[in-house]
Amino acid sequence: MTDETTPATPIRQQVMDRETARGIVQSRRDEEANRLAPVLTWEQFTEYVFRWRQGEHCALIGPTGSGKTTLALALLQFRKYVVALGTKPRDSTLSQLIARGGFKRMSKWERESPTMSPKRVLWPDASQMNSAVVQRNQFQNALDHIYREGGWCVYIDELWFIIHHLKLELAVKTYLQQARALQISLVVATQRPAHVPLEVYDQSTHLFFWLDNDERNLKRISGISWLSADLVRHLVSRLEHHQVLYINTRTGRMFRTKAPSPTGEVNK
Ligand SMILES: Nc1ncnc2c1ncn2[C@@H]1O[C@H](COP(=O)(O)OP(=O)(O)O)[C@@H](O)[C@H]1O
Ligand SMILES: [Mg+2]
Repeated sequence: MTDETTPATPIRQQVMDRETARGIVQSRRDEEANRLAPVLTWEQFTEYVFRWRQGEHCALIGPTGSGKTTLALALLQFRKYVVALGTKPRDSTLSQLIARGGFKRMSKWERESPTMSPKRVLWPDASQMNSAVVQRNQFQNALDHIYREGGWCVYIDELWFIIHHLKLELAVKTYLQQARALQISLVVATQRPAHVPLEVYDQSTHLFFWLDNDERNLKRISGISWLSADLVRHLVSRLEHHQVLYINTRTGRMFRTKAPSPTGEVNK
């Protein structure tokens, strides 16, 4: 029997309910995200979480402008012997490392004692259209020497260029797979997760991802982690500007943090 005195739920109310339900699902996901990838300040992250042993690799993946170079420079401060590979004709970041960061510029590998010049920017001439041949030879030669010397941290800011344009994929793969035993760490950055070898993800202990909504990139990112693909995808697509998702591939632990702003403003 219908109770004619009770009015049917108004349409407006039904719409509200659907929205509320959606909101609840969303906030559950957010809660899950907070539980599985807590948000830390950079100080908390570096003091209590991030343990980067010599020989472990770091991979930084995010679109241009997200903060890869900024974070890489913050990471390099943890290492004593660093070689940054310079690939562009001009690069203000590398110029600053040379002008103010105590890095020595070398256009080719110099056989100097690491203690004499522990921080180097290896920057072969890139000013000509056909510089790629020179660049390739100098980087290959340097990577051979570094491999034999051991103990260095090699920073490659544009991994795609090194692998595809300079055709150094084999050298990079060898480093990723073998260099750990030689106490050589790689720090590699790329904006194209789909175009770098899978070894980058498998062999890196420390992965850093920035906000990315590109469907192909998200697919690749969620496919490389043995963690819940849905969760990684959810986290990466909802990061704040400059916020980074850190994944330790050995422990499976995840955190979200922000590198210190280069302009010195405080990041929350
Ligand atoms: N954690 C951060 N907080 C505030 N600003 C940042 C942060 N990281 C990067 N930026 C700014 O964003 C811009 C792009 O950073 P950059 O590190 O060059 O990105 P990418 O190397 O990914 O292209 C720069 O102007 C930089 O100052
Ligand atoms: Mg950059």
